[in-house]
Amino acid sequence: MSKPLTIADLKTMARRRVPKMFFDYADSGAWTESTYRANEDDFSRIKLRQRVLVDMTDRSLATTMIGHDVSMPVALAPTGLTGMQHADGEMLAAKAAEEAGVPFTLSTMSICSIEDVRSVTSKPFWFQLYVMKDRGFVERLIGRARAAGCSALVVTADLQILGQRHKDLRNGLSAPPKWTLNSAMQLATKPFWCLDMLRTSRRGFGNIVGHASNVSDLSSLSAWTAEQFDPRLSWDDIRWIKDLWGGKLIIKGILDEDDARAAADTGADAIIVSNHGGRQLDGALSSISMLPKIVAAVGDRLEVHLDGGVRSGQDVLKAVALGARGTFIGRPFLYGLGALGKPGVTAALEIIRKEMDITMALCGKRDIQDIDAGVIAENPFHA
Ligand code: GLV
Repeated sequence: MSKPLTIADLKTMARRRVPKMFFDYADSGAWTESTYRANEDDFSRIKLRQRVLVDMTDRSLATTMIGHDVSMPVALAPTGLTGMQHADGEMLAAKAAEEAGVPFTLSTMSICSIEDVRSVTSKPFWFQLYVMKDRGFVERLIGRARAAGCSALVVTADLQILGQRHKDLRNGLSAPPKWTLNSAMQLATKPFWCLDMLRTSRRGFGNIVGHASNVSDLSSLSAWTAEQFDPRLSWDDIRWIKDLWGGKLIIKGILDEDDARAAADTGADAIIVSNHGGRQLDGALSSISMLPKIVAAVGDRLEVHLDGGVRSGQDVLKAVALGARGTFIGRPFLYGLGALGKPGVTAALEIIRKEMDITMALCGKRDIQDIDAGVIAENPFHA
């Protein structure tokens, strides 16, 4: 394929290069994948207002997220197993994000560790925390994130029990891949991926291997989450984490106004309106459809961010118009990474940046900070 022009182009390229179990891991949603599809589809139901004959020079997408300068309202979302889309994937993506002037969020379930990412970046990145039953391990993770200079902690609230993704079970997903006929066949057709992977030693869960005790099967995400994640996680734990961390805190996985109010009560700096990319509760509403209600409920108390379904700069603009201070992209950067490594992440970010810039201009606006509901012609998702 020639130069990728859209996130869909990067997805096509990634599908060719990345073994099926890892491409599918990124691409899948829970059960029927209806919420995964709704996240994308609902963006297209929002229509923009075309405005003409206004000065469109000197445009700016720069803004802030939780007080941090960003070159556009886009952060890289925490995604599990990123180092399986491409060897050393988290390190490459973090560097691409740094160069693009947007935040990178490292997942607890990453392949490269907090320390690996720290070793290749010069600006602080954000760290996403899953809360395990072993609170000592959680305390150590928070301490490692602090020692690495991470400038925000993103606590995920919606994955204490893993949603079932059929493809992962059928593909025999594990990191590193287990030596079965099924996985050998998936790897055999992806020689470039395999060659890169042979050159790195980072093939397991880098934040966990060697740091957590009493772990029986760490290569299987579903076994690990079922055994280690704490299904009793509560708002009191969020307060405990907030005190322990002492820095900027973002709560990820809020899709309900009452939960948004409870999140604001904790004193968190931001929430991410999210259904985990449709990977958890299949049948939940899309993120963008819930955004206006959640902004109306808590938008004056903390920043509201959004993830789920963002595939273009137009989507980012629509989310900002409906009140999101920033957005997170997961799959778009994973497709770029799988397709081309670090240049692919840069390509994903630049595709979105260009789309947002031109869309903003064609809406008659020059500064992302001036974008509000006035750029929307039709919105089926009112507060
Ligand atoms: C982990 O965050 C997952 O959705 O698989």
